[in-house]
Amino acid sequence: MRLIFTSLLYACALLHARAQELCDLEPFLERSVDGLPPCKTCFFPTYPHINNINVSDYKPMDMSHQWFFFHGDSTLRQYWGEFFSFIHKTQAMGYAELKHHSRHECPDQPRNPYVPPPYDGTPCYLNEKTCSTFYNDTGMGKAINITYDWKHLIYEDYDRWLYNGWMKEKSGPDILFVSPGLHDCYHDPDQFEHHARNLRHLVEHLARLPQTVVYVDMNPTTWGANKRKTLKCVFYVNAAGHALAKEFGMLMFSRQTMIVSGDQKAEDGTFPMHQADEIVATEIRYMLAWLGCILEHRRAGTLTA
Ligand SMILES: *[C@@H]1O[C@H](CO)[C@@H](O)[C@H](O)[C@H]1NC(C)=O
Ligand SMILES: *[C@@H]1O[C@H](CO)[C@@H](O)[C@H](O)[C@H]1NC(C)=O
Ligand SMILES: *[C@@H]1O[C@H](CO)[C@@H](O)[C@H](O)[C@H]1NC(C)=O
Repeated sequence: MRLIFTSLLYACALLHARAQELCDLEPFLERSVDGLPPCKTCFFPTYPHINNINVSDYKPMDMSHQWFFFHGDSTLRQYWGEFFSFIHKTQAMGYAELKHHSRHECPDQPRNPYVPPPYDGTPCYLNEKTCSTFYNDTGMGKAINITYDWKHLIYEDYDRWLYNGWMKEKSGPDILFVSPGLHDCYHDPDQFEHHARNLRHLVEHLARLPQTVVYVDMNPTTWGANKRKTLKCVFYVNAAGHALAKEFGMLMFSRQTMIVSGDQKAEDGTFPMHQADEIVATEIRYMLAWLGCILEHRRAGTLTA
């Protein structure tokens, strides 16, 4: 009896010690204002609150032998670009350079090209590329692969083909960043309910993947194709993403929260499609601090829903 009691005490002390070693997740947790339970796997970074988070308190993730995959449109392509500067400890390419690089130097995706409708000639098919880079030695670990893969709409044939292939072959990246991207709201802002339904199908598919999935919501953009307003659509679909993250326990980083709370508008008072590179770099800095910490908690089993 005494022995059992002592071992129990010992086990508790061990658990306690382990809990103490974990990073502090508290500063990243959602402040739920409406009495609803918060999303424990989401990060909704607001200014000025994040100014109180000292990212140097969070030790950088060791990314050795990991494959990072960025699946999204040009707005997530910016994430991919700024991610390099953190991994590689060099200056990332700017937005224009990245766009040029991915369009001209990366191989085509195996897919049927997007055909724009007659009323909207945006040549989005120029982006249908996959860019992969291997880094043997970086500031954040050894033997790291980073891929950027174009994703046009919220849930496409190409997504199903890609994700099903990984599931079937037990292959694919370790960490998958996915963004629904802007294009559904950009081309068809009035169809926001349809887009939100498609997002549920995407998240259901993502939830079945063995990879660690990080969902990055749509960045707010005021104008869509043919000068139609898109913000209502973006906010509606992002709210659906928030609810789905809670439902599925999905890791979610909200660009919307950060951009809107920072009032990051262009000079004409509208939200631009592409935020300035240094704003994206700030987002990545907080995103990586949160991600390293939440993955630490997930491994320790302290992230119970
Ligand atoms: C941020 O954290 C680092 C490392 O823990 C510490 O050296 C530094 O003083 C902190 N900065 C502030 C402003 O608290
Ligand atoms: C990175 O890619 C190379 C080439 O495709 C592959 O041999 C290697 O196993 C990959 N490493 C990781 C960590 O995925
Ligand atoms: C990566 O670095 C290791 C030593 O750290 C070396 O043995 C290996 O050949 C390198 N691989 C490539 C593809 O450069």
